[in-house]
Amino acid sequence: MSHSKNFLYKNTNISFTEKGTGKTVVFLHGFLENKFMWDAFIPEISKKNRIICIDLLGHGDSECIGYVHTMETQAEMVWALLNELKITKATFIGHSMGGYVALAFAELYPDFITNLVLLNSTSYEDNLERKGNRDRAIKAVKQNYVVAVSMSIANLFSEKNRNVLLDEIAKTKKEALKTPLQGIIAAQEGMKIRKERLFVLQNATFPITLILGKQDAVMQYLETAKQVENTSVKLISLAGGHMSYIENRDEFMLFLKEAFN
Ligand code: MLT
Repeated sequence: MSHSKNFLYKNTNISFTEKGTGKTVVFLHGFLENKFMWDAFIPEISKKNRIICIDLLGHGDSECIGYVHTMETQAEMVWALLNELKITKATFIGHSMGGYVALAFAELYPDFITNLVLLNSTSYEDNLERKGNRDRAIKAVKQNYVVAVSMSIANLFSEKNRNVLLDEIAKTKKEALKTPLQGIIAAQEGMKIRKERLFVLQNATFPITLILGKQDAVMQYLETAKQVENTSVKLISLAGGHMSYIENRDEFMLFLKEAFN
């Protein structure tokens, strides 16, 4: 594991790790996750690339900047950090909410991107049901933080894996419980109002890969897969749930190696 570094963005501490040299690959974690979620892949992928793993606002060791962290706010923070590091081009790999942030970044700074990988993510906006679920989740986490966070983690794994990957689920919960209440609420509020970015998939001048889990309970596979229709996005379908980087670790590693080594 590389040592964390700090960057001050608008008086807010941002934590990130950096490893390797070569073309830059930026990893963006999802909701309730942090920069360490990518640890299993870094030793291999950093052999030939410069890897940057960032804690998004209100997650991991990065502070909150307010009460709503929009995907645009997160993308602007990521840009400011990369600018500070004198990086002008990068591949982006985003898991779920990290993918939403990468899509917002792609809209704001399209010339920056060489390659975009959306892992268990979507360019669609929330429908009314999902918005309602977020309101209920915010209420629940305010009432009982530990129970609400713990319960939402199990749901991320496929039903089958919930009874198999017990150590991994326990580890994921432990990391999730490091996310401060304000960060959780700000992320939910930000995701709730995010806009649809199908046009990024349709108009991109860089390659995009969408990796989905067929048993994903967060985003229904068939519905989510539809977004690649009439685009040049490459779709990779894996057998597990929302946590492909754990549930289908070998396939994801193989994909990364083939794409970036
Ligand atoms: C995530 O894993 O980042 C979230 O589940 C995404 C979401 O809630 O839309």
